[in-house]
Amino acid sequence: MTILLFLIVGFIPELCVAASSDHEQFVFNGFTGSNLSLDGAARITSTGLIELTNDSARIKGHAFHPSPLRFRRSSDGTVQSFSVSFVFGILSSFGDIRGHGFAFFVSPSKDFTAAYPIQFLGLFNSTNNGSLSNHIFAVELDTIQNTEFGDINDNHVGIDINSLNSLKSYAAGFYNDQNSGRFTNLPLIGSQQPIQAWVEYDGNKTRIDVTIAPLGLAKPLTPLLSLAFNLSTVLTEEEAYIGFSSSTGLSTGHHIILGWSFGMNRPAPAIDSTKLPKLPYLGPRAPSKLLEIVLPIASALFVLVVGTTAVILVRRHLRYKEDVREDWEVEYGPQRFTYKDLSHATKGFSSKHLVGVGGFGRVYRGVLPKSRSQVAVKTVPYNSKQGVKQFTAEVASMGHLQHSNIVQLHGYCRRKGEFFLVYDYMVNGSLDRYLYGYGGEEGRPPGATATVVLDWAQRFKIVRDIASGLLYLHEEWDKVVVHRDVKPSNVLLDNNMNGRLGDFGLARLYDHGTDPHTTHVVGTIGYLAPELAHRGKASTRTDVFAFGVFVLEVTCGRKPVVVSEDTDTPGRGTQLMLVDWVIQNWHKGSLVDAIDIKLQGRYDVDQACLALKLGLLCSHPSPDARPSMRQVLQYLDGDLPLPELLPAHFSFHMLALLQSETRLNTSTVSLYPSPAMTMMDYGSVSFSLDGR
Ligand SMILES: Nc1ncnc2c1ncn2[C@@H]1O[C@H](COP(=O)(O)OP(=O)(O)OP(=O)(O)O)[C@@H](O)[C@H]1O
Ligand SMILES: *[C@@H]1O[C@H](CO)[C@@H](O)[C@H](O)[C@H]1NC(C)=O
Ligand SMILES: *[C@@H]1O[C@H](CO)[C@@H](O)[C@H](O)[C@H]1NC(C)=O
Ligand SMILES: *[C@@H]1O[C@H](CO)[C@@H](O)[C@H](O)[C@H]1NC(C)=O
Ligand SMILES: *[C@@H]1O[C@H](CO)[C@@H](O)[C@H](O)[C@H]1NC(C)=O
Ligand SMILES: *[C@@H]1O[C@H](CO)[C@@H](O)[C@H](O)[C@H]1NC(C)=O
Ligand SMILES: *[C@@H]1O[C@H](CO)[C@@H](O)[C@H](O)[C@H]1NC(C)=O
Ligand SMILES: [Mg+2]
Repeated sequence: MTILLFLIVGFIPELCVAASSDHEQFVFNGFTGSNLSLDGAARITSTGLIELTNDSARIKGHAFHPSPLRFRRSSDGTVQSFSVSFVFGILSSFGDIRGHGFAFFVSPSKDFTAAYPIQFLGLFNSTNNGSLSNHIFAVELDTIQNTEFGDINDNHVGIDINSLNSLKSYAAGFYNDQNSGRFTNLPLIGSQQPIQAWVEYDGNKTRIDVTIAPLGLAKPLTPLLSLAFNLSTVLTEEEAYIGFSSSTGLSTGHHIILGWSFGMNRPAPAIDSTKLPKLPYLGPRAPSKLLEIVLPIASALFVLVVGTTAVILVRRHLRYKEDVREDWEVEYGPQRFTYKDLSHATKGFSSKHLVGVGGFGRVYRGVLPKSRSQVAVKTVPYNSKQGVKQFTAEVASMGHLQHSNIVQLHGYCRRKGEFFLVYDYMVNGSLDRYLYGYGGEEGRPPGATATVVLDWAQRFKIVRDIASGLLYLHEEWDKVVVHRDVKPSNVLLDNNMNGRLGDFGLARLYDHGTDPHTTHVVGTIGYLAPELAHRGKASTRTDVFAFGVFVLEVTCGRKPVVVSEDTDTPGRGTQLMLVDWVIQNWHKGSLVDAIDIKLQGRYDVDQACLALKLGLLCSHPSPDARPSMRQVLQYLDGDLPLPELLPAHFSFHMLALLQSETRLNTSTVSLYPSPAMTMMDYGSVSFSLDGR
């Protein structure tokens, strides 16, 4: 109907009066050798597809017809009829993860450098969204629901004028003429079957029609969207560019155009589906609902479908395949999670769910499918075959540890050289983020809009919590557990801001009384006791040392290595261990000067001085001078007076540390990291001295 109208009304009379640009048309069956203008991530692939975006986050991509088209009729200046058709596919490399969609647009300019990626689709930014001076008409094919733009769902088509708030939108689908015009949903994303779209403007009736259908189907008679709109009010320039725009956010997608045609005052020329390049196959993917439509239409495809399904099932099987359960593992039965559950919980370990990256692996937030409980899944690579059994045994026995000041370990999973440790998720994140006020959204405590400074009472409570957690590990369980990595990033805050000690991934268990026998140094620079760095022997005393550094850090709000303002500091340059910096302050007669200035003087002086002295005592270079965790708790509770300490007792501290460093052959890492290293880097530098 509409086509006929174009031919008679638009095409024939215009031929006599207007220049040939009023009847411009083109068709691309693939884009090899085409002359399109591309920007951002957009590229023409070797097979001739336009790929607007790739797997990089927060990028934009545009593809334009190189020359502008004359949309306005020369006689009266109104926008004349035009028709566009294109074939596209949206693929994801990461299974069900969806990125943002893309748009076809008509725009007076090819310059979209000021537009934003993510939900702005590379078309607008936060200031020009909705502005009448944009003169942009677009059809969005959107795969994420952005409520700020009034999106109806995460799979819709919308007509946009100057704004991302669609004037009209509808769930992606088509009125199936093969099925008496019944509406059939069409997922825009993840199908290996391309989709064809038609965007038509009738200049006489001032009506915009948008239609989509699976490639291979004739254009459905009823358009998906039909909007009465006079484009002459928007496309006011003589000429305008047409093209495609797309962007990615944290989650990404591949937005691919396979073919494109255009006709001014005439229907868009037919795209020859047999000449189109094929969509690439991007990794495993769930079977598509599209098959349900295609099946009745072409029963010949049945065999193909069975084949594809089989491939998908095999791939799914491989995707969730984990390392076999070995005989010795049977006893840990309930503690072993399936990889499938963990993968579902974390949406395929998507970057959206990543909460942090540490020295040994990544931590993802997830919700377990069965229990609906929130968990943190830590991935730890391992490579030694024999280590697995021992490590699994350790993980399993750590699962039995239960205390209100440690992060509960629920279980584990093994797969392809990786261990997955499943912990309780701690909503308030780790303490380091509160102490140092990292910039940027990533560094903030989850949910916080600005950096939260913990007050003194909260800090003291957390110190006490951690002391009590460590005491449990050291003395109150049936085995001695050496934590080995006490530091603020391993102190997590639960929903009541209680401190909980996390990360037993590196802990080693010793039976009471047996010889520890270790030659393996694991830990973080700055928290390593001299004898640990020196002889590689971890013990409850080395944990006390790290705890001491931790207490100083919480009290001073400073990292374990400080840059000293004092130029005549001995040692290398201007860097100083926090312990020594506190001692320096004390020597100068002002211990309180070491207390965190972010507290603005609001703290209990006696408690804060107790914390500083206790921190110094715990991180004493001589292991025998350090208290046990039971004593530490008594000091903190005031049940035992702290031994009388004088600054002079500590004057050789620094020397001892320097000596231990020179004996340690650290070719790759220094105990004193360079000042350029941020705390983020610094916190995750851990090293191993296997066999030394
Ligand atoms: N159970 C948890 N709940 C919530 N967030 C967590 C949990 N465990 C870890 N995290 C977050 O993930 C981040 C990374 O943790 P990870 O343990 O991998 O590194 P790290 O603690 O910085 O260093 P290390 O590898 O030495 O432990 C932490 O800083 C913390 O913010
Ligand atoms: C995506 O495209 C951008 C721009 O061309 C490029 O810098 C980046 O490396 C690409 N990313 C991937 C994952 O291919
Ligand atoms: C390619 O496009 C430019 C305009 O961007 C034009 O000048 C040139 O003639 C075109 N070349 C071909 C081969 O179409
Ligand atoms: C938004 O885009 C317009 C151009 O379309 C530009 O003038 C403006 O500076 C941009 N605003 C921001 C915040 O980038
Ligand atoms: C975008 O523009 C539309 C139309 O002017 C407006 O209704 C909407 O609130 C704007 N949305 C955002 C997020 O700026
Ligand atoms: C369509 O537009 C032409 C030219 O302006 C006009 O002559 C004709 O009557 C219009 N037809 C309809 C059906 O509106
Ligand atoms: C469309 O808008 C233009 C310019 O504003 C106007 O000249 C024209 O008459 C309008 N067409 C209709 C059908 O309203
Ligand atoms: Mg950690």
